[in-house]
Amino acid sequence: MSRFAVWSAERAQAVIAEYRDGPGALLPALHALMAEFGYIDAAAIPLLAEAMTLSKADVQGVISFYHDFRTSPPGRHVIKLCRAEACQSMGSAGLEAHAKARLAVDWGQTTENGEFTLEPVFCLGNCALSPAVMVDGDLYGRVDPQRFEGILTEVRDAASVASEPTP
Ligand code: FES
Repeated sequence: MSRFAVWSAERAQAVIAEYRDGPGALLPALHALMAEFGYIDAAAIPLLAEAMTLSKADVQGVISFYHDFRTSPPGRHVIKLCRAEACQSMGSAGLEAHAKARLAVDWGQTTENGEFTLEPVFCLGNCALSPAVMVDGDLYGRVDPQRFEGILTEVRDAASVASEPTP
């Protein structure tokens, strides 16, 4: 089960309404939509533009400028793999190659079964424990291919326990 809500224009309107009067409201609203839905649906652009008295092109420009804003739904789990210097010096390139081959995806792609999305990130603030990986917001350090496999299993097990019906 995804930790994100399914896109809904009504829900998006409510999220946007919480931010529309704040200073520099667009970025916080975009982050809030990401937190709610996991991506910015194209249908959110006119809603944001209207609420914030901006053109649709302005909104689109901000979304395209920041790589953090996805424009399509992510998989059920998002894996962020650090590509910054400290992690590179500790072998993140090998981990990256392993992750891409193992999941059969490139950066920004989602596995065919919709389970995992793989994304690059530039420093997770965990440099002392490089190479670092974040999965669904949880941070992991000293990740080599073997530990990566363990993390995938851990995430799958946790998801299957969470989806079991309660007696
Ligand atoms: S460089 Fe990877 S966590 Fe800082």
